[in-house]
Amino acid sequence: PELHTLINAADFERVASKSLTPKTWAFYSSAATDLITHQQNKALLRRIMIQPRILRNVKDVDFRRKILGHNSNAPFFISPAAMARLAHPDGELALAKAAKTEGIIQCISNNASYPLGSIVESGDPQQPFFFQLYVNSERHKTTELLLKAKELGIKAIFVTVDAPVPGKREADERIAAGSIQSAISGAKATNDKKGGGLGRLMAQYIDKSLTWSDLAWIKETSGLPIVLKGVQNVQDAKMAVEYGVDGIMLSNHGGRSLDTAQPAILNLVELRMKAPEVFSKLEVYVDGGFERGSDILKAIALGATAVGVGRPYLYSLVYGQEGAEHLTQILKDEIEVSMRLCGITDLEQASPDLLNTSDIDHL
Ligand code: FNR
Repeated sequence: PELHTLINAADFERVASKSLTPKTWAFYSSAATDLITHQQNKALLRRIMIQPRILRNVKDVDFRRKILGHNSNAPFFISPAAMARLAHPDGELALAKAAKTEGIIQCISNNASYPLGSIVESGDPQQPFFFQLYVNSERHKTTELLLKAKELGIKAIFVTVDAPVPGKREADERIAAGSIQSAISGAKATNDKKGGGLGRLMAQYIDKSLTWSDLAWIKETSGLPIVLKGVQNVQDAKMAVEYGVDGIMLSNHGGRSLDTAQPAILNLVELRMKAPEVFSKLEVYVDGGFERGSDILKAIALGATAVGVGRPYLYSLVYGQEGAEHLTQILKDEIEVSMRLCGITDLEQASPDLLNTSDIDHL
């Protein structure tokens, strides 16, 4: 279908399911074992109800956001997802260019299909990028990568902490892996007795022995702000504050790590209830299942600084850079309409008073 006929994120998913190769579709769309967390990420967002305000002059709306001090034209960013080139020859380069035109931030995956330098250079020299890190068991490789990131002007390191080992993604395991390799981590996929899971095969370099005490080394080596991606427990959010990290991302890897892990939006609701002080100590992001502007607005109202969008961007790459731009415009437009219909003109006005979360509070 022609790009302009796609009017929401689900349309991109539908088109991707039909036009990506079966292996790429399996890798992108799959999640751990019974897909409970994956499905509930989205389902719980839809159980939060909005209580709009009225008669508030919603003529001029501003939904720009500062993320770790960097300007973003919208309160969402591109979550790091591996191997974008499987969807389109331009892969992560197309995402970088779309991020530039749309004024949003791309968090580049450690398992990207293009070298870090090429991705950064395909954008604008002023354009902020974040980089997602998996610490390598051969630590010197991570040191080199962090120095490279610093040299390239990357603005923050998102350390992924929810996948010391990859989850069991069965749809991905069932289809043999071709020969693919990440240009950043060097990870390669080969089939083995367990199957052809790209996620699993490309994760073998990840250091399972990583602990809180390693964070200082990452921060010192890179000289950059550190965000922990994959925080799923209030106690860990508090520890993140103690360890002085700059941000936490409430995430379960899009349901790809441990199945039946609590949906990300519920972690956000719970964090507000049990440790509200955390929000004033560091920035809180969330991802998993965000496909609507209204869902993004709910997370902002609950105290998130920004929301990450993962699979929808991979799916948008069926249309390359233009697809990623079109998806971004759709999400921005949905946010704008939702804000006006909520009676707010600025994201600062998005507060929990606009929401009824009682359906998920008791969970
Ligand atoms: C991911 N994700 C991911 N996360 C990460 O830290 N490093 C990575 O390399 C990848 N790779 C990756 C590949 C694919 C195909 C997917 C779908 C996801 C997880 C990603 O950053 C994000 O947390 C989720 O995708 C968010 O959920 P949604 O938006 O896809 O529902």
